[in-house]
Amino acid sequence: MIILLTGGTGYIGSHTAIAAIAAGHQVVLYDNLSNSHAQVIEKMHTITHQKIPFVQGDVLNTELLYKTLVEYKIDAVIHLAGLKSVKDSSEYPINYYHNNVSGTISLLQAMSRAGVKKLVFSSSATVYGEPQYLPYDENHPTTPINVYGRTKLQIEEVLRDLVDSDSTWRILALRYFNPVGAHASGLIGENPQGIPNNLMPYVAQVAAKELPILHIFGDDYATKDGTGERDYIHVMDLAEGHTAAIDYLINHEGFRCINLGTGSAFSVLDLVKSFEHVLGSKIPYQISPRRHGDLPKYFADASLAHELLNWKAHRSLLDMCHTTWIFKKNSKKGS
Ligand SMILES: NC(=O)c1ccc[n+]([C@@H]2O[C@H](COP(=O)([O-])OP(=O)(O)OC[C@H]3O[C@@H](n4cnc5c(N)ncnc54)[C@H](O)[C@@H]3O)[C@@H](O)[C@H]2O)c1
Repeated sequence: MIILLTGGTGYIGSHTAIAAIAAGHQVVLYDNLSNSHAQVIEKMHTITHQKIPFVQGDVLNTELLYKTLVEYKIDAVIHLAGLKSVKDSSEYPINYYHNNVSGTISLLQAMSRAGVKKLVFSSSATVYGEPQYLPYDENHPTTPINVYGRTKLQIEEVLRDLVDSDSTWRILALRYFNPVGAHASGLIGENPQGIPNNLMPYVAQVAAKELPILHIFGDDYATKDGTGERDYIHVMDLAEGHTAAIDYLINHEGFRCINLGTGSAFSVLDLVKSFEHVLGSKIPYQISPRRHGDLPKYFADASLAHELLNWKAHRSLLDMCHTTWIFKKNSKKGS
């Protein structure tokens, strides 16, 4: 199949493109480069030994999307383009609704006009909100506690309504848990600008001595060691989940939401210890007060993905830390 990846030069998009090529698909990248760099495309060429077409454009540009879908004879779209900072989303809600929700509607208009009706959408575990029970399964109530999560939930609702109105659409919303790690080559990975919001890139920057110390927000949660617990998933496992989703759409109609997680929770201290093991030295950290809005613990019931997509995450926490560190060292050399 020929697959268009919106957000294709981003962290998850670049890994997903590589997994899709490895599975025998052709890909076209579409991105406005608001949170990524065109240099990643060269790295993807090195990894795949293929030239990957890239269109620089915004998903809000319906006309350019339509032309791209037609010109490249696209069969299916993986829609990853979006803004993803929980913190920014409460400061700039209109930007977030415009980019994420209106951007998706623009994409659906272009797809509809071009007759491309297979879509995999990057949703998030943030749609669930405060856990009523754990692990979260796909039937867990959805009451997101931040604007970012509400943009994802609204998009899911739009997609469900669309499929209800026209059964020729086939759409999966993949609810990601906490993607971390990098491609084994160490050529691509997560490279946030400024001080990272997420734990793993923060730990990597402390390990590389770019930041002096790791702040762990809260050690008095009702978890196994008092620190927050998350379902960390290796980005290459997540990427392979998308190709499994594309395969599913070939034979199945309708709309489904599916969790992509490992089904296990690791604490902040588990992750730090694992990183220290890779590094061979200690990561300096200090305990800081809890952050408002952080949940103590959540993780996925990953059984639906296994049942429907025949997909399971299999890479370890050590592998997540190891590939993060290889990428970090490589990008330091290159910088
Ligand atoms: N990384 C996570 O922890 C996580 C978790 C759950 C869901 N997601 C979702 O997965 C998707 C990809 O996330 P990521 O971590 O790769 O983020 P990312 O920022 O690295 O990638 C997103 C890409 O989309 C592009 N983009 C943003 N707005 C655009 C627009 N209007 N038009 C065209 N391109 C645009 C950015 O330039 C970037 O390259 C996002 O939709 C995000 O919300 C991410």
